[in-house]
Amino acid sequence: MLQEDPASEALALQRFVRQFHFVPKTFFITTAIDYTTSPPHIGHAYEKVLADVIARYHRLKGDNVFFLTGVDQHGQKVQQSAAKAGVPPAEFVKGITQKFVDLWKILDVKYDEWAETTSERHKKVVQGILQRLFDAGQIYKDKQAGYYSIRQEQFLTDKERGPDGEFGPEWGQLEFREEENYYFRLSQHKDWLLSYLDKRKDAVIPDFRQTELRNAVEKLGGDLCISRPKSRLDWGIELPFDKNFVNYVWFDALTNYISFAGYDPALSTLNSQPTTFRDKWPALQIIGKDILVPAHGIYWLIMLHAIGFPDEAMPQLLVHGWWNLGGAKMSKSAGNVIDPFALIEKYGTDALRYYLTSDIATGQDADFSEERLVERYNTDLANSLGNLLNRTLNMAHRYRDGVVNKTGGDSPLAAQAADLLRHYQIAFQRFEVHAAIARLMEFVTTCNTYIEMSAPWKLAKDPTRSEALDHVLFVLAESLRIIGILISPILPTAAHEIFYQLNIRDEPQTSDANWGLLPERHHLGKPTPLFPRIEV
Ligand code: MSP
Repeated sequence: MLQEDPASEALALQRFVRQFHFVPKTFFITTAIDYTTSPPHIGHAYEKVLADVIARYHRLKGDNVFFLTGVDQHGQKVQQSAAKAGVPPAEFVKGITQKFVDLWKILDVKYDEWAETTSERHKKVVQGILQRLFDAGQIYKDKQAGYYSIRQEQFLTDKERGPDGEFGPEWGQLEFREEENYYFRLSQHKDWLLSYLDKRKDAVIPDFRQTELRNAVEKLGGDLCISRPKSRLDWGIELPFDKNFVNYVWFDALTNYISFAGYDPALSTLNSQPTTFRDKWPALQIIGKDILVPAHGIYWLIMLHAIGFPDEAMPQLLVHGWWNLGGAKMSKSAGNVIDPFALIEKYGTDALRYYLTSDIATGQDADFSEERLVERYNTDLANSLGNLLNRTLNMAHRYRDGVVNKTGGDSPLAAQAADLLRHYQIAFQRFEVHAAIARLMEFVTTCNTYIEMSAPWKLAKDPTRSEALDHVLFVLAESLRIIGILISPILPTAAHEIFYQLNIRDEPQTSDANWGLLPERHHLGKPTPLFPRIEV
């Protein structure tokens, strides 16, 4: 009789278990999809870079990542902007969409899937969901009567009345209208949403945004109007149960998060969805503070609940703050929007990515300043990091023909690097990218101070200190290797250049950022200035 081999038995068991439990689940991250009414501004750039940095951090950790972003192409404002430009809406959105695509390319925003809401694939999912909700009695037709602003093309409610109780001149000519539309039974799910928010304390990050959302849900009254008659708006997805109407507009926009991830509206439970979808969902969803209430925090969570997503499968909402200008909101109408293309042209991609991730705390607002952008680049990148790389490589070439050799003895930098890695990871777990960068830059400063203190130029003059010189050069190269890895989610192109100059393997993982992995005898590449100073 054959003897059972305990090792192979254990292996078989492991394989069996892995089939069900250890399949790596994808880290799914999304952003808001931008309106294609006008070209991208710095606020759009910020959100996508933030998501890109978090996505890259997860790739670095070895996770399977699915990063979805895109554009919101339907709606009244788009129809109006197209009319103003004198081109058909389809042509208009094509042009603006291309500007977004171009920006993400030059900004190194590396997404895995691109959402365009005019695509057939998306339309089918939106219509499938609407039909299911209609069949389930969650959507009904009703009549609305009230004052209608012809200039703004919308019904006015009491919220639009001024302190004197009248509608102000900004609404232009008003007429009393009656209109039939379709409504989604939002208020039926109010209690569910309150109990869900009470159960899940990190449904929304930061905390104060969850509180803001909960307060808004408490006040939730009516249902959600989800249609416009085609006579008023035709640039949208037709309602599958009434061809005289198009969907307006959040159902269309919000559905992108699942339609471009493989959701099949014909299958009513999450468990019956294709594995490609189940492997990804739920997502971490990055949005700006203006679209938490009511769009994502109320409409979206209730929509998902109404189409059968269980509480455990609700997405997590990460809400970022806004970039303002001189304390005021940037807006196209105020004429104070900052053009990211112009900034990149002037200062480069690294400078912009670095500024947008290091000079704002996730969740808070910040004031945009071009001087500050230049200052941060010059101080942190040109003077501190660039200089550290350049000095280290130059000294290694001058004193050791570019070869660094490991010597015995511990370095204080080893403990600091371990500390850095720990804090960097904690900061990323909390989505505090600015804090991760601050830690990294502290370490860079420590390394520069270490050069001053150890004065390799003096050691080089003293033959009895030869081993000490080897030690200093080696630990500096090792430190730079780790810095290169940890800066790669933030500045991917600069990180490639650092690896190239250090002559080490590209495409590392976070685990490579542990101290002690540089080969004992290593030939460094030639130095070239990495971040030339910006002179203004
Ligand atoms: N199309 C909707 C979102 C639909 S998501 C299913 C929309 N588009 S938007 O173009 O107006 O805004 C897109 C994102 O950019 C939002 O998350 C918004 O908060 C963000 N920002 C717009 N201006 C911003 C700043 N000034 N600063 C930071 N982010 C800003 O809303």
